[in-house]
Amino acid sequence: DLNTTLRQIAAAVDLQTLDGARVAALGKSGWVTALLKTLGQLSPEERQTRGPEIQGIRSRVAEAIAERKEQLEAAELERKLATERVDLSLPAVERPTGSVHPVSQVMEELAEIFADLGFAVAEGPEIETDWYNFTALNMPESHPARAMHDTFYCEPRDGEPARVLRTHTSPVQIRAMQSIGTPLRIIAPGRVYRSDSDATHTPMFHQIEGLVIDRAIHMGHLKWTLETFLKAFFEREDIVLRLRPSYFPFTEPSAEVDVGYSQEKGRRVVGGSDGWMEVLGSGMVHPKVIAAAGLDPDEWQGFAFGTGVDRLAMLKYGMDDLRAFFDGDIRWLKHYGFSA
Ligand code: PHE
Repeated sequence: DLNTTLRQIAAAVDLQTLDGARVAALGKSGWVTALLKTLGQLSPEERQTRGPEIQGIRSRVAEAIAERKEQLEAAELERKLATERVDLSLPAVERPTGSVHPVSQVMEELAEIFADLGFAVAEGPEIETDWYNFTALNMPESHPARAMHDTFYCEPRDGEPARVLRTHTSPVQIRAMQSIGTPLRIIAPGRVYRSDSDATHTPMFHQIEGLVIDRAIHMGHLKWTLETFLKAFFEREDIVLRLRPSYFPFTEPSAEVDVGYSQEKGRRVVGGSDGWMEVLGSGMVHPKVIAAAGLDPDEWQGFAFGTGVDRLAMLKYGMDDLRAFFDGDIRWLKHYGFSA
């Protein structure tokens, strides 16, 4: 009867028991449902009194169920809040964290230094056409300087221009002149490839190119720019440069740039004047290169330089084996403070 059902509902300890009580009363063959069915057989007068009575029973049971359901759900939430609390005093599980690779870090440092001097960052493809990598840079097909590049050639494809893995970042000079136009101040860091491998050479390495094109640019601008950049990069004021006459097909005149070093704890450190070491190739952009990019060399002049990013990283952070850069050995990175 009603009291038994109400007691069952009140005593239900969980939602499942509560549902059992509901089915017993209001389910298809529950006793309240059975009562409701009897209404049909009653006379109209009887129905007048029994109807509201039975409906009253039904709603009391339904209300009791709803009320108990709410209580049980609230209790369940309480229990969860009490038991599933996050304990902030627990020590965290330490996980190894990655870090920026020295090559990437140096490229970022260089981009920042040159950004302060008004240089934007330009990019070009690593699979480059023979034309951009050589021809446009004043190295026509038979030019002997091509032989110095130990080029990786791509399998030729019908109807497509000949391609190589770029041997230097200088093709970005042409691409930048074409796509950005004048005046122009860019650096172009990136991977380059040469078929060469020993303690100081890896088949893939990194260069950064610099290019300025404007009116009346001269070598004084080049020297000041290099001096300013090297002082900022090596964080030393005692940086001395020596520009040595040299040859590159794409610059005229060309200069190899040496920087003064000092001997500190058995190792060469940039800055000072114990000796010279070569750090850069540079020069005034050859008129033929400016013309190849579609500009008028009588109106536009510029300087360019290129250097090895890996080499700069080694010099700055005192690393001695180029190959270790690409081994991915975390112990090596840790040793130089590059990994947590
Ligand atoms: N591209 C040259 C090299 O790879 C470096 C260079 C760049 C020289 C720009 C002059 C001007 O050796």
